[in-house]
Amino acid sequence: MLAGIFACTAVSAAGETARSWANANLSPDERASMIVARMTQADELSLVRGWLGLRYNPSYPPPFNGNKRFHDVVGSSGYVPGIPRLGIPSLQETDASLGVANLGGIIRPGDVATALPSSLLLGATFDRHVAFHSGEMIAQEAWRKGLNVLLGPGIDLIRDPRNGRNFEYISEDPLLTGALAAPYIQGVQAQHVIAVVKHYVMNDQETDRNSANAIIGEADLRESDLLGFELAIEGGDPGAVMCSYNLINGTYACENHHLLDEVLKGDWHYPGFVMSDWGAVHSVGAAMAGLDQESAATMDTRPFGAAPAPYFAAPLYKAIQDGTVSRSRLADMAHRILRSMFAAGLLDHPPVKSAIDYKADGDVALREAQAGIVLLKDDREVLPLGPNDVRIAVIGGHADSGVLSGGGSAQVFPAGGPGISIPLGGANPVLARINAMIFDPSVPLQAISGLAPKAEVRFDSGDYPSQAATLAKWADVAIVFATQWTSEGRDVPDLSLPNGQDGLIRAVAAANPKTVVVLETGGPVAMPWLRQVAAVVESWYPGQRGGEAIADILCGKVDPSGHLPVTFPASIDQNPRPVIPGSEAVDAAAMSAPGSQAHEIDVDYSEGAEVGYRWFAEKHLTPMFPFGYGLSYTTFNYSKLDVHGGRTLTVSFEVTNTGERSGVAVPQVYLMSRSGRPLQRLIGFSRVPLAPGQRQEVSLRVDQRLLADFDPAAHLWRVPAGRYAIALARSATDEVVTGATHLDTATLRP
Ligand code: BGC
Repeated sequence: MLAGIFACTAVSAAGETARSWANANLSPDERASMIVARMTQADELSLVRGWLGLRYNPSYPPPFNGNKRFHDVVGSSGYVPGIPRLGIPSLQETDASLGVANLGGIIRPGDVATALPSSLLLGATFDRHVAFHSGEMIAQEAWRKGLNVLLGPGIDLIRDPRNGRNFEYISEDPLLTGALAAPYIQGVQAQHVIAVVKHYVMNDQETDRNSANAIIGEADLRESDLLGFELAIEGGDPGAVMCSYNLINGTYACENHHLLDEVLKGDWHYPGFVMSDWGAVHSVGAAMAGLDQESAATMDTRPFGAAPAPYFAAPLYKAIQDGTVSRSRLADMAHRILRSMFAAGLLDHPPVKSAIDYKADGDVALREAQAGIVLLKDDREVLPLGPNDVRIAVIGGHADSGVLSGGGSAQVFPAGGPGISIPLGGANPVLARINAMIFDPSVPLQAISGLAPKAEVRFDSGDYPSQAATLAKWADVAIVFATQWTSEGRDVPDLSLPNGQDGLIRAVAAANPKTVVVLETGGPVAMPWLRQVAAVVESWYPGQRGGEAIADILCGKVDPSGHLPVTFPASIDQNPRPVIPGSEAVDAAAMSAPGSQAHEIDVDYSEGAEVGYRWFAEKHLTPMFPFGYGLSYTTFNYSKLDVHGGRTLTVSFEVTNTGERSGVAVPQVYLMSRSGRPLQRLIGFSRVPLAPGQRQEVSLRVDQRLLADFDPAAHLWRVPAGRYAIALARSATDEVVTGATHLDTATLRP
């Protein structure tokens, strides 16, 4: 089907059918080549230079006041003007991974969107279908708002539990991250919206993110963060990759010839385009290193707020004139952008502003939250709540108003408006509106009352622990909601719950032995009160319908089936870097702002590829809760492990629900050692819904790269011949059945 954009504009050219690229039977590359052949250099330059996507609004101070020059700006994070003469639509680029963002509700005043749970909750589902439907839902809302590029998913590996953006990332493991990002990307692009996988690569801390220099060896990088990207890109085929703010081994990500040209476009044959993060370009030379499009080019100024100095504008023109950047490279940049536009269907199926079914989309958010909330502790089977729980105390966390969400560019202004919005201050009037803690409008208190109609449910704000304890004493069960707000641009200094919440939990637990803690956190937190409480539920940032999902788990309407996508350390001293590099400076947060002029600091990723649970295994450390961990109200038996070697590794086993309730098992397969040398890696997983007594066979074929070492000298993945010990496990530290097999030597090109 050809869209209106072609239908109403017929241009003829000598020797070529007008708009020959309108033929949807041709490949995206053929179509892109045809258009590029008709482009002037000015057209190409226009396509590679991005603008902030803000609509013109003279009442806002710069740079938030937008740009008078363009009339079709929908209002989002980024914008690239189209070329109407050639039927090329503008790119309207919206954040991000958890829903169509609208920072502070100011970008499209009054506009809302469905807020999905955090990406870490998605990681906790271990569910590829949930990932697909998340991407599909967000992109469909974007498309109906007139937006055609989604700046997600974010897939950096979680290397520090204090990273302020962990809630935007999926997990600490390359397989889990890649396996969920790929269907998410497919879901996005099935809606004719380009997906942008980000932030390439090693943007693993927010502190000094513009100047942090990630030091990591080539083999380690290939086997960890790059492998996550490789699997996501291979399986999802995203139209664009966003290069990150930081440096890698001394070179900025957006001008890193090795990572952009040699690895991404060379080894992985990536045909799409590389766009920069907002304010991440430092020279026109980035074009020759592999950057195809400079996003929001006016942000590439030093310092932030100074006169704009875009690189892919006059400086790029000059570089082409003097031959520093070749003419063919500029054509390649334009080709890559256009080919991704064709591949995702941006020209054939342009966005149509249309009504959004927020009810149906809310159901997507609910199902995801139900699948990714993790039951961490349930002593004495306090949960699910039962008929004897007739007096229920709900305490703290604004559980009478909503559930917390994370801040920064991914912030969604939720459908129905925020439950509450707590301003965090700031002198700049626009930044002050952006700088707020937003609670999504799904109210745990109400949802719990709804599922326990015979119980008396009372709320206490938790502001005064003694008062909360009084209510807890009255109750049969006390449920404390504890929150940790995290945001882009700042890491949290430590793992404690802020604002004295640890003291509140202790006071409540001392008053009532049946104390349940529900966490709403950006990532792992410390739990100094763990032994004193009966149950703990990790709900991450559970999104638009999160309050209901939490109540469903607490009341047993839904069996908990989330499993940790990240290790919860017993103490931050177990982390490879107990102190976040750069965090000791008093102005650490300011240094993270775009355009800040902090000087380079080295972040030595000495753990290499041994990220998260792999580091804990290597160092024989016992975490508070391991990667992959999560309880259920039913029980599962794992048996009949069969491991087949030779040229490739296949694993099969049986899972049985041995309890009395329906539930979902998440069996995990780990490589445990190679020829006697301990070496832990997640090499497969599944998600198996089972009725009581039901059993199912699962078989998995293991990707060779998960078994291999990367050999930089030979430029190969190498699976050494030897004996491979495998564990079928409930978590990274809970092996149920083990097996072993012999594998032959194998080598693979990267
Ligand atoms: C973030 C990106 C985001 C971009 C546009 C940057 O600050 O790092 O993730 O897509 O802004 O809002």
